[in-house]
Amino acid sequence: MPTESDPPTAIGDILVSSRSLAEYRAMFALTDDDLRRRILDCPGGTASFTAEVCAAGGDVTACDPVYGRCTTIELAAMAQRESDRGNRYCRSHADDYVWTFFSDPDDHAFSRNEAGRRFSDHHLFHPERYIAGALPKLPFGDDAFDLVLSSHLLISYADRFDRSFHHNAVRELMRSQRPRYASSRSSLWIRPSIRISTPATVSRRRRHHH
Ligand SMILES: C[S@@+](CC[C@H](N)C(=O)[O-])C[C@H]1O[C@@H](n2cnc3c(N)ncnc32)[C@H](O)[C@@H]1O
Repeated sequence: MPTESDPPTAIGDILVSSRSLAEYRAMFALTDDDLRRRILDCPGGTASFTAEVCAAGGDVTACDPVYGRCTTIELAAMAQRESDRGNRYCRSHADDYVWTFFSDPDDHAFSRNEAGRRFSDHHLFHPERYIAGALPKLPFGDDAFDLVLSSHLLISYADRFDRSFHHNAVRELMRSQRPRYASSRSSLWIRPSIRISTPATVSRRRRHHH
């Protein structure tokens, strides 16, 4: 059971998670118009956001350090393993979550497994959409994107990345993005075009799913 003393990232090593387009839409309040822009998803992890938006004709680039270390087969195995780890955490801390987006831990497991599968299928045929890189220094030119999304790294793992890292990372995300048009309940909007997921927005003790 969770305790008051659980740190926000008690899950352990940074999870390589597999969120879906539906999760990204809800988390970042994305509109159809947003999804027609040139988008950077950093960190992309094994999320299916890039795969799903590209399949619908969109233009998304995902960036994550794991893309430089693993083949598609290794990433597929990682997606499965990490979804299982995240799901085990959700199950053992079920009372600590608000089960509105997912109905229960089984629903969470199903969605994450499906997203991981879509990610690895897309990575196999479109590796050019998945660029290895790590904040706070990204391999993109200035203003390469119209919209930058950053889910579940910044702020979420504030116990292991210090203020200076966050400062430099946000500056870097701003550099890669053209200012265009300046929060939703579950994301911090540096500008309307730079959105960072925030944990624990529902109440002080309850969090988003890992
Ligand atoms: C919790 S996952 C989030 C993945 C995806 N955005 C999602 O919501 O499903 C965190 C990701 O951050 C990546 N990561 C770790 N250090 C990083 C860094 N310095 N810069 C960019 N990504 C990093 C990890 O490899 C991991 O895939």
